[in-house]
Parts: sequence; C-alpha cells; structure tokens
Amino acid sequence: MTEELEPDDLFALPGLRRSAPKAGFPATELIPQVAYEIVHDELMLDGVSRMNLATFCTTWVDDQARRLMNESMDKNIVDKDEYPQTAELERRCVRMIADLWHAPDPAATHGTSTTGSSEAAMLGGLAAKFRWRKRGGTGTPNFVCGPVQVCWEKFARYFDVEIRRIPLRGDQLTMHPDDVSAYCDDNTIMVVPTFGQTYTGLFEDVAGISRALDRLHEVSGLDIPIHVDAASGGFLAPFTAPDLIWDFRLPRVKSINASGHKTGLAPLGSGWALWREEADLPDELIFNVDYLGGSMATFNLNFSRPGGQVITSYYEFIRLGHTGYTHLQSQLYHVAQHLANGLLKLGPFEMIHGGDPHRGIAAVSWRLTDDVGFNLYELSDRLRTRGWLIAAYPLPADRENETIMRALVRHGFTTDMADLLLDDIARGMEQLAKHPQTEPLTREEAGGFTHNATAVVPSERAKPVRSSTE
Ligand SMILES: Cc1ncc(COP(=O)(O)O)c(C=O)c1O
Repeated sequence: MTEELEPDDLFALPGLRRSAPKAGFPATELIPQVAYEIVHDELMLDGVSRMNLATFCTTWVDDQARRLMNESMDKNIVDKDEYPQTAELERRCVRMIADLWHAPDPAATHGTSTTGSSEAAMLGGLAAKFRWRKRGGTGTPNFVCGPVQVCWEKFARYFDVEIRRIPLRGDQLTMHPDDVSAYCDDNTIMVVPTFGQTYTGLFEDVAGISRALDRLHEVSGLDIPIHVDAASGGFLAPFTAPDLIWDFRLPRVKSINASGHKTGLAPLGSGWALWREEADLPDELIFNVDYLGGSMATFNLNFSRPGGQVITSYYEFIRLGHTGYTHLQSQLYHVAQHLANGLLKLGPFEMIHGGDPHRGIAAVSWRLTDDVGFNLYELSDRLRTRGWLIAAYPLPADRENETIMRALVRHGFTTDMADLLLDDIARGMEQLAKHPQTEPLTREEAGGFTHNATAVVPSERAKPVRSSTE
C-alpha cells in the first residue's frame, strides 16, 4: 500500500494521509478539511495568546466583534466608493478620538486609520518632515527622543532623518525635559515623547517637554513641534488619568499616534494618526481616491487594507463609550497593582512601574534587588514551562547592564489569572533556588519577544529561518 492510500489519522479515509508541505510550491490539491487540520494542528504550538504578557496587542474580543470581523472580511478600506459606510465609520472614529484627545475642533480634525502605530508614527514623522521643508529647512533633518520603539529607528532609516536619542540620566528611565533643548537645532523637525514606553510602560513627561520647548522658543526663536507616540497610552489616560495633560491640550502637540489594536481594544491591524489642525497635515501626504462619484482624501502608506478593524473599532467605541472604557481600563490597572503587590510579597523584586495610572500604562515592570542565585532570563524560561510568556530584557543603551521584566495587563487578564501567575512565579523561584544553573542563562538562550526589534547591520544579516525538515 502506498502512503497515499493509507487511511489518515483523523478522518479514517484511505488516501487522505498527508504531511504538511514545507518547501517548494505544493504540486497537488488537498481537500479543505485536511488542509485545515494540517494548519490548525500546527498552530497549536503557538501557545495561548492570553498567557502572553509580553504583547501589548489585543488577545480577547467578544463574539460581536468577531462577527463584525467575519462580516467585513471582504471590505477593502481604500475602496471608499464601493464601501462608503465603512469610510463613514472611519470618519466617525477620527472625530471621536479627536474629541478624546482634546483637538481644538474635533469635527474638523484630520486623521486616519492605519495598520498600527508603526504606520501612524511614520505618517506623523513624514508630516513633520514636510512641514520643516516648507519652512525652508535644508540639510539633514533630525528628531529628538528618549528610548523609543523600533518604529522610530525605521522611520529614521527609511526616510533619511537623523535620530537623536537623549541618553538616560542617573536613575531616570524617561527623557528628562531639561535635556531636550540641547539636542535641538534648526533641522529638528519634531520631538517625540513616548506616552507609555515600550521598555518600562512609563509615561514620558509630555507637558514638561512642551514647557522646555516653549522656553527654547523664547530664547532662541526655534519653534519645535511635538509628535506624541501614544501607542499604548492614547486609549488609557483619557479614561484613567484624565487630569494628565499630554494631548492636543498642549498647543505644541501637532500630531499623535496610537494603536487601536492595543488599548483601543480592536483586533490586530488597527492604528490611528491624528493632526491638530488642517495646516499640520501637509498636502504632499494626501492622495485622492474615488468616493460616491467624487473624490476623498487619503493619507496612508498602504493602499489596500482590511476594513474590519475600523468597523470593530467603531463597534468598541459605541459599545463601551466613556464609562465602559473607564470601567474596563481601571480594572486593568487594578489587576496590574494586584500583580505588583504580589511580586513585592514574593521578595527580591523592586518595582520600576507598579501599575499607577498617572505614571504609565496598565503594566508592571520590575528588577531583582538581590543576588538570589538566578537571573530574570532563567525565571522567564521557567515560566514558559507553564505557558506564560513574560519578557526579560536589558534596559536601552546607557543602562544595558540592567535586566528587567515586564508584564502587560490587557483586557482578558483577570485577578484570578494574576494569582495563578504569582503561584507559578513562586514555584519557579523555588525551583531555581533548589537547582541553580551552573552557567547563567543568557538573553539569547532564553529567547522571548519584547515587542521590539534590533536594527541589522547589513554584514550581520540573519539567515532566513529554515524548516527543520526541509
Ligand atoms: C511606544 C510604541 N510605539 C510604537 C509601537 C509600534 O506599534 P505597532 O505594533 O502598533 O505598529 C509600539 C509597539 O509596541 C510601542 O510600544
């Protein structure tokens, strides 16, 4: 009997047994059920996304959001003429977010949905670059920031802009407002504070940075705009720290990006970029597409994109409203604080961010205080054996000798789950104390995704990953 005629393991039908094609374009068809099972079964190894506390992105949505995603699978958001109502929902979302971020005229605010914060950040950066050029800027443009997410390194490389990263000073892990002016000059297109740092979860002091730039304007005439990277903070602080001033209430803030698919609660593939006033979005970024017999302005790096993310964002906004988002996001901070207190009780940890809504996003970041005979990479590795993914990584340049751990608390992570995690951390610590590693585990050996990436030097380009059975 040839292998093809043997019954398969699942359907007991002769001739169905196949293994997953891995390289080269598959020669023949499979029936849908078999192809589905092959893919489905392989994906079991991906783990349980809700136990992945290294990701900032949505891992829980309700059934109605799933239904809307399914119903809109065939809608291309760029096709405004064919799907005018999807275009209308996008415009409503922009007006709602403009209101949330205190734009001077929410009804007239220019903004767009994107695939995520990376695209939104590039658009904010490009607008700043075009505005600088219009002001007569020549030479190499630059922007000033603290420890930023890799999307800003990409922006710098892809669009030929110098990135001026202010080194961390002393014990401070965020950009210090007093340091900003020294890094600015005629070619500075913007300062980029991060409102919810990727490394620690902490908010950078946008209002303090704005005041520092006001003083610089007074003494030197340099008038430098701010773009806020509010990837994670943009849908938290308006509900849980409304008195914190970081948004369009500051006249110097000309644009903001946020990830709908992080704290906006939309499924993956959703970001937003908004500009304060019409003049802040240069014409060079705008392209017109057909719309109900006329034309409509778009400003995106992509052309075709799925419409479901915008549709579901609108659903989340009207389903929860201000009170719903406030309840839900406050609960996340409550769980983060519960986790932070539990960690402090376990012993040798110092909190960098313990889930205070005025200091940062709904996350906990911590380091080891004592030499306890294991490092955080080893603890992260132990937690993986129970299915938890918790990132351990070094701090950015200037403090790269210090290792920290970070857990992001997202919708769908409950106090009960935090207690289960604390039990597993306690068990992991006990085991590591009993069986110390003779050679400490390194970051490379422990693996783990930190929601960042490292820029590649061309000569050190990584080889493509090959399948073990190729
Ligand atoms: C501060 C910050 N900016 C930008 C990004 C990139 O966002 P996205 O993954 O939505 O492209 C992230 C992702 O974690 C982030 O933390």
